[in-house]
Amino acid sequence: MSRVAYSLRPSTEDDLPFVAALGRANRAAEAQRHTGAEADDAPASIEGRFRPGRDWIVTSDDEQIGVLSLDRRADAVIVRHIALLPEFQNRGIGSALIRGVLDFAITVKLPVRLRLLKDNPARSLYERLGFAVTSEDGRRYEMTARPADA
Ligand SMILES: CC(C)(COP(=O)(O)OP(=O)(O)OC[C@H]1O[C@@H](n2cnc3c(N)ncnc32)[C@H](O)[C@@H]1OP(=O)(O)O)[C@@H](O)C(=O)NCCC(=O)NCCS
Repeated sequence: MSRVAYSLRPSTEDDLPFVAALGRANRAAEAQRHTGAEADDAPASIEGRFRPGRDWIVTSDDEQIGVLSLDRRADAVIVRHIALLPEFQNRGIGSALIRGVLDFAITVKLPVRLRLLKDNPARSLYERLGFAVTSEDGRRYEMTARPADA
């Protein structure tokens, strides 16, 4: 599949309908992945956690195609969530976005941390980019990438 040019811009309240549609689209794809999952196994919705003005909207040709939510804490940069519309997945955008987060983390000398459901295929993407599992509970892995001097 061809590569896609993309940009990041700050989100606004007006992006909420898009973020809700993005959440629905990815939940539908995820439901196909784990048939039989209990309703309360569903991860917190990205629309429920969306922070207009603080989270980033990923765009391509000025169209919204995804969301990136980061927190800079005292001890780590946290990827709260990252999601792209299904038709824009598997084209290298997610890897490029995470590489950008890692570059930022190097400049602020902090590790990058995230959590993901154990059956999420994104684990291989994170491992390729240098993340390792640092803890886990019944449902999720916590993964951390540590720049050399963080
Ligand atoms: C996770 C996600 C942001 C990755 O971005 P991407 O542009 O699709 O990723 P890339 O093309 O750079 O890399 C491909 C890798 O993404 C991961 N991936 C692909 N489709 C995915 C999907 N539907 N869900 C989760 N991860 C996926 C896989 O690790 C894949 O590597 P593999 O082919 O070796 O298994 C994107 O797939 C997505 O939005 N998924 C749905 C939401 C989600 O699961 N977010 C992660 C929660 S931590």
